[in-house]
Amino acid sequence: MILLVTDLDHTLVGDDQATAAFNSWVKSQGEQVKLVYATGRSLTSAQGLQREKTLLEPDYWAVSVGTEIYHQGELDLTWAAQLDQGWDRARVVQITTQFPQLKLQLATEQRPWKVSFTLVPGDADWIMGELTAQFQSSRLAAQLIYSSDRDLDILPKQGHKGHAVTYLQNLRQVPAEQTVVCGDSGNDLSMFQTSARGIVVGNAQLELRQWVQTADQHRHYLAKQSHAWGILEGLAYFYPSHFPPQNSPFQAPKQVGGLNRSSLYRFSN
Ligand code: GLC
Ligand code: MG
Repeated sequence: MILLVTDLDHTLVGDDQATAAFNSWVKSQGEQVKLVYATGRSLTSAQGLQREKTLLEPDYWAVSVGTEIYHQGELDLTWAAQLDQGWDRARVVQITTQFPQLKLQLATEQRPWKVSFTLVPGDADWIMGELTAQFQSSRLAAQLIYSSDRDLDILPKQGHKGHAVTYLQNLRQVPAEQTVVCGDSGNDLSMFQTSARGIVVGNAQLELRQWVQTADQHRHYLAKQSHAWGILEGLAYFYPSHFPPQNSPFQAPKQVGGLNRSSLYRFSN
């Protein structure tokens, strides 16, 4: 079984043909693949995107940057209880009000274990420095994640996408080499810091690409192709036996790392 964890925006979603090809492959795998969507969006927002882009129903939703896990419509309360430790949302919000540069995101994106702002890159470093210092002196178990040169998420220390992946991996007892994460931006980085395998899609932001390039290359695959084409490319690299060699649109790359395979998955459906 493969535990397949993917980000949505600019990873699984971004090229409709690629998303359709991904859906066909996942369906062809039946029970061999357990699908997890790990997204910065709230569940409401993510399910809106699911309808709009006809995404498959996942086995698990890890939404609001991994701070909420849902399975068959139910919030995972064990996970929630872990995040509650040392988390004081009201105090976090109070500290942030000192900085007018922090603009609150939409109300739907403010969640029990997530406070989210937009922040321009020029102010990001010093404000994050100040916030970190104040969280430390107030003994708040909070962490900051800045992504896409725009979004600042404040989450409980234990609650990011990476910890959510490890939690699900343990819950389902899936070995690290059978767990694969896919992403494109800074809020995905924590998933690449787990023991799982990782696929960085070709259109990924520099913030993720640079980190992965300096980290362990054996566990991570930098796809040449963008969006879900990149996911399929990486899956074929890690799990070639799941891609029948002949007469199938899903062929494994002939020469991994070579130049001659960029159009391998250019098909629809
Ligand atoms: C999504 C969420 C937003 C968050 C961002 C980065 O866009 O809606 O709240 O800040 O992801 O994690
Ligand atoms: Mg993304």
